[in-house]
Amino acid sequence: MIRFPELPPAVTALLLQVTAVLLAALSMRVAPLPPLGFALLCGTYAAMLSHFAGQARWWLYIQFLFVPALVVMLAFDIPSELFLAAFLVLLVVYWSTFRTQVPLYLSSNKVWRALEDFLPQHGTGFRFVDLGSGLGGVLTHLSGVRPDGQYTGVESAPLPFLWSWLRIRFGGHRQCAVHWGSLWDCDLSQYDVVFAYLSPVPMKRLWHKARAEMRPGSVFISSTFAVPEQSPHDTVQVDDLHRSTLLVWRM
Ligand SMILES: C[S@@+](CC[C@H](N)C(=O)[O-])C[C@H]1O[C@@H](n2cnc3c(N)ncnc32)[C@H](O)[C@@H]1O
Repeated sequence: MIRFPELPPAVTALLLQVTAVLLAALSMRVAPLPPLGFALLCGTYAAMLSHFAGQARWWLYIQFLFVPALVVMLAFDIPSELFLAAFLVLLVVYWSTFRTQVPLYLSSNKVWRALEDFLPQHGTGFRFVDLGSGLGGVLTHLSGVRPDGQYTGVESAPLPFLWSWLRIRFGGHRQCAVHWGSLWDCDLSQYDVVFAYLSPVPMKRLWHKARAEMRPGSVFISSTFAVPEQSPHDTVQVDDLHRSTLLVWRM
């Protein structure tokens, strides 16, 4: 199996797709095919290469369908500006997901309510941070029920950041603030409760950051995604659509 350990999966997929097109072009010299046949051949090569490169199974479907979908879409003669517009919208929503492997998806109201139980006691003036704060729902909910805390969000994608900034600014959530930036630049020693709903990919690195920076007595909560080889002190099963689990560590 060929491995591309340093490259994000999306970049690996792109390189394999280019290789597949070159292989299909060479094959065409031996046996010419109509455009859709050529596209299917590209897809077949791309899926096979992705399999040998050890990409996750769902990448194989994407790789197989990519060039055939291009050929089919070209047949519809859709204005190219529409593709550019769609690309720009996806760019500002998902931004560096191809690298971070943490896309935008939102935690449920039931998760927000379950988090209330992990806020420090009333009157302690605590600080809470949501690492990758999305549209700011966690922050605005918690500040509504527990206005005695300070709530901070860090978000790297431009549109979710702008959305949450406007939501906080015009929703009157004076205990909330959101910053545009990377969670890796956030100093976790300032917070009593650190919340993250990310993906399996950054959890090991995030755990090391939390261990190095968080103060004794503070609480680290990951929604759904476990830390490899670290059993949580507490787990809460949330009865929502995703069957979310809160994994809680007391530092
Ligand atoms: C799964 S969503 C969670 C949103 C929100 N916390 C919630 O619970 O509804 C993860 C968010 O993290 C953001 N993100 C991913 N990597 C990040 C990074 N390195 N720094 C800041 N935000 C990041 C993504 O843009 C996305 O909005």
